[in-house]
Amino acid sequence: MRMIVTGGAGFIGSHVAETLLNAGHEVLILDNFSTGKKTNLPEGISFLEVDICRDDLNKIFLDFKPEAVCHLAAQIDVRKSILDPAYDAYVNIVGAAKLLEACKEAKVKKVIYSSSAAVYGEPQFLPVSEEHQIRPLSAYGISKHTVEHYLVVYKELYGIDYSILRYGNVYGPRQDPLGEAGVVAIFTDKVLKDEIPTIYGDGKQTRDFVFVKDIARANLLAAETKGSQLVNIATGVETSVNDVFNLLCQMAGKDHLKANYLPERSGEIRRMVMTKEKAKVEIGFAYKYSFAEGIKETLAYYKD
Ligand SMILES: NC(=O)c1ccc[n+]([C@@H]2O[C@H](COP(=O)([O-])OP(=O)(O)OC[C@H]3O[C@@H](n4cnc5c(N)ncnc54)[C@H](O)[C@@H]3O)[C@@H](O)[C@H]2O)c1
Repeated sequence: MRMIVTGGAGFIGSHVAETLLNAGHEVLILDNFSTGKKTNLPEGISFLEVDICRDDLNKIFLDFKPEAVCHLAAQIDVRKSILDPAYDAYVNIVGAAKLLEACKEAKVKKVIYSSSAAVYGEPQFLPVSEEHQIRPLSAYGISKHTVEHYLVVYKELYGIDYSILRYGNVYGPRQDPLGEAGVVAIFTDKVLKDEIPTIYGDGKQTRDFVFVKDIARANLLAAETKGSQLVNIATGVETSVNDVFNLLCQMAGKDHLKANYLPERSGEIRRMVMTKEKAKVEIGFAYKYSFAEGIKETLAYYKD
């Protein structure tokens, strides 16, 4: 199948593109390299340095004629989204609207969209299922959810199928440890450098951590599944920040390291774990990497 991957030079997108390529699909990456890196691009892959907010996206789509699109290009920094909601909305909402228009013009059959647990906000019950109320706590959560509505409308109006994949906390090789990155990338970087990481609060806050190669496989399965779906992509396993730190220290042979505990940051969700059953039924996805296996691969990558 001919496929476009937006954000394919980024952390998750590069794994998605690689997985699609290995499965025999013909892949074109579109990325403006705002956070993505050329070094992340799978070897020999076709790519165009393009901003998805550009007006001539249609031409690129009409030239390549993709059957499906994995849309990952986004502004992903939650804190930035709160400080500059207009920028977040421009990239995440306007960018997606332009992309969908290009999909319509080029008669794309399916869009696989990277959504997030951020759409749910503070969990009212655990594990959080797809039926949980939507009450995002950031502009990022709002923008990720808004695009879900566009996808449903484009299905109704133009018959373009969608897979809305709501990910838990994704971690693994190529995640940038700088800035507002995921906790695994930050801790891995610190632990390997023998530096002391900071934990905000008591470290008992939990998340549903999903290894990036599982996320990439979920995109492949969604692309190869007919019809439209909305599913969580999660493990259903609740892991605390303390667990992350302890496992990393243990596996890296750095048991002597102690974290620096600072007061809890406001607005942080206490517990998060998501259901995984609907993804199994609708796209045949079940996670393969336990947290320990994923951490092992992540450590090996950062050691190199
Ligand atoms: N990392 C997570 O835990 C997580 C969780 C849930 C959902 N997601 C979603 O997964 C997707 C990928 O996230 P990631 O963690 O790989 O982030 P990332 O920043 O590594 O990747 C985003 C990519 O999009 C590109 N990009 C940004 N704006 C663009 C634009 N206007 N035009 C073209 N390219 C643009 C960037 O250069 C980068 O390569 C995002 O849509 C994000 O919302 C991530």
